[in-house]
Amino acid sequence: MGEIKTIGVLTSGGDAPGMNAAIRAVVRTANAKGVRVIGVRRGYNGLMNGDMIELDARRVSDILQRGGTMLQTARCLEFKDLEGVQRGINIAREFGLGGLVVIGGDGSFRGARDLSNLGFPTIGIPGTIDNDISCTEYCIGFDTALNTAQESVDKLRDTSGSHERCSVVEVMGHGAGYIALYVSICCGGEVCLIPEKPFDYEKDVLQPILDGKKRGKQHDIVVVSEGVTNSVELAKRIEKDTQIESRATILGHVQRGGSPTLRDRLIASQMGYAAVNVLLEGRSNRLIVMRDSKIIDIDITEGLSMPRKVDEKMIEMARILSI
Ligand code: F6P
Repeated sequence: MGEIKTIGVLTSGGDAPGMNAAIRAVVRTANAKGVRVIGVRRGYNGLMNGDMIELDARRVSDILQRGGTMLQTARCLEFKDLEGVQRGINIAREFGLGGLVVIGGDGSFRGARDLSNLGFPTIGIPGTIDNDISCTEYCIGFDTALNTAQESVDKLRDTSGSHERCSVVEVMGHGAGYIALYVSICCGGEVCLIPEKPFDYEKDVLQPILDGKKRGKQHDIVVVSEGVTNSVELAKRIEKDTQIESRATILGHVQRGGSPTLRDRLIASQMGYAAVNVLLEGRSNRLIVMRDSKIIDIDITEGLSMPRKVDEKMIEMARILSI
């Protein structure tokens, strides 16, 4: 493989605050090493359709603090089969790309792995508010989403306390309970329901609320990770069984937006910088991850095969601190 003179960068899957900071870091690190960068728009769709724009250090000015992604993002079904991936490689080569940085979640990394396996050097950067990629301690966007959710739950707490109500609040997570668990711990949730722990309504919802009432609690916060149960129905059931007026709030996509926190900007910058260095060292099929608070790179295939573990201690702690 010859020296890489031009690389591409794309964002794929759900957007996450900090993706722009990662794009900026990729562009500036590459430019500083004399390498040109092309921004591929709308995820892998841009690779299939040649939808690309030239990026340079000035073109990525003023994006560090912005949520969303300046390149737009999408989920591309055609990229799931190898014919689509090969077509993407052919187009990338027509544009002179010698490698690619993909910022996204684990669905996006399957595409990155397939590109690498077909001989096109690709590096992945984890970006998803769900923080559900098992091989890394951290995914870009998680901290901002947590802070957004925390601010909302704090506000719900004010009104919930004033009316002595129960607030059921549903947060995102895509089958992972990290947002729910962290928010519940940090916002004083009485109950936290996550996909990793099947729940029993009587024991895990009703009883803690009734016990809390006996101990003098005047309002409740029930944090539900999306998909675990129907939050609106849960609020109705709690109201019926406890006589505590209850309301459900689904936070939804607000959790995906907003200016990235310092943590997200910093880690996005570190990961963007690392990704370009790995690519220019001639390595491929690597994921930039955080392990023991350090930014390192690992094999994508290995990373994708790691099982996701839930931190039992955190779950236990959330329960204890909610009494
Ligand atoms: O992966 C990020 C995420 O926001 C998940 O938490 C959620 O399940 C999903 O994306 C929502 O997807 P969409 O934006 O397509 O509705």
